[in-house]
Amino acid sequence: MVGIAMKDLISIKDMGRRQIEGIFSLTDKLKRKTPRSLNGKIIAMIFEKPSTRTRISFEIATYDLGGHAIYLPKKDIQLGRGETLGDTAKVMSEYVDGIVARLFTHKEMLDLAKYAEVPVINGLDDLLHPCQALSDLYTIKKRFKNLKGVKIAFLGDGGSNVCHSLMYACSGLGVKMVIACPREYSPRPKILRDTRRYCRLVREPREAVEGADIVYTDAWISMGEERERKERIRKLKNYQVSSSLLKHVKKRRYFVMHCLPAHRGEEITPEVLEGRKSIIWEQAHNRLHVQKAILHLLLGKK
Ligand code: CP
Ligand code: NVA
Repeated sequence: MVGIAMKDLISIKDMGRRQIEGIFSLTDKLKRKTPRSLNGKIIAMIFEKPSTRTRISFEIATYDLGGHAIYLPKKDIQLGRGETLGDTAKVMSEYVDGIVARLFTHKEMLDLAKYAEVPVINGLDDLLHPCQALSDLYTIKKRFKNLKGVKIAFLGDGGSNVCHSLMYACSGLGVKMVIACPREYSPRPKILRDTRRYCRLVREPREAVEGADIVYTDAWISMGEERERKERIRKLKNYQVSSSLLKHVKKRRYFVMHCLPAHRGEEITPEVLEGRKSIIWEQAHNRLHVQKAILHLLLGKK
């Protein structure tokens, strides 16, 4: 199986094509039969922000693999009262076998991985959402069988954690991605540079969707950005994924994706979200399977 020589899963940037593809084939294998490879293992889930999909799918994946997950909202542990992340990481490493974390900043995520002696899995930070992007590329692969020649159009907040991780995933797998966003909400320059062979930036939504196999969007207002709400809606309104925009895809077979939670009438219209091109529910479902593969690789008894 894949030689995943990594302690943590913090960013897809750290992964090679073989590792990503290895996660996909392992996902297929575990779907057929789930081993009890986490038997007796305990996973701490430190969450600084809310979550439906990530939390539930990691808890269920851990359970299905024979382990036990402890959900720890930041406010309920001493981290919420100022205990340092470093101390928290060191103490947790004495008790648990792995940590899934959802934190505000990427710097905190790196600190957690640095101080923890057990594997740390990034369940989202302000910069990246690697588990989402791995699962999304898996979903796309299932639909198209082969990722070769697939083009993804991402519309809206190009600076979102989901967009950044999709860029790294596309770059790792050789998938073309076009990001259409306003200048203020462009991806981080470093990530654009790292992924420039496969990812391209445009300002015009129609240009991005033309010939796309996947039209993807994320929330315009990510967790922690609520104060910018009015300004973001004003600047992003032309990037809404709507039926009229989708006319410009000019392809018969294409799909619409969204990491969820969705904001109907903002980044996506209700008829597109619920429409026949949407594979959004299947996309959410696959989080469970791909996360099982991630847990098995990083923490499973070999
Ligand atoms: N897509 C995603 O990560 O959803 P949650 O915020 O519900 O975990
Ligand atoms: N960009 C969104 C993703 C939610 C899964 C956020 O960070 O809120």
